[in-house]
Amino acid sequence: MTDNEFFQFAVRASEKSYSPYSKFKVGAVLLTEDGQIFTGCNIENASYSMTICAERTAIFKAVSSGFTDFKAIAIAGSSGDDFSIPCVPCGACLQVLSEFCNDDFMIVLSDGVHKLKDFLPNRFTKENIS
Ligand code: THU
Repeated sequence: MTDNEFFQFAVRASEKSYSPYSKFKVGAVLLTEDGQIFTGCNIENASYSMTICAERTAIFKAVSSGFTDFKAIAIAGSSGDDFSIPCVPCGACLQVLSEFCNDDFMIVLSDGVHKLKDFLPNRFTKENIS
């Protein structure tokens, strides 16, 4: 799968978005080290702060299915049909990714491939509490 195919997979995942309030659809596709795929979308709530991002939906689906080793995530977000503006993962999602992913974990956005360390260079992890 090319980076662009991986990204387009995230665009397709965004079709499941439940976002009646923001009308901003986000899709995420998480790839495990052994090649499994978990999709996620943002799920909003009338009590706005109960909203969950697409990335965390995908991560929680994977972990609750027994997968904790991840290679990459693709993220696509748009309020229409144009997914060209990169949808950078929020701080909360980066922190949750940090629990399971190392510096070189790949984050594929509309503008190309990034690394977890690019977005959150100094992370609070289990090493900090050992
Ligand atoms: N959102 C995501 O799902 N992931 C991101 O990376 C950024 C924001 C969602 C949360 C909310 O439903 C909507 O996008 C607008 O913030």
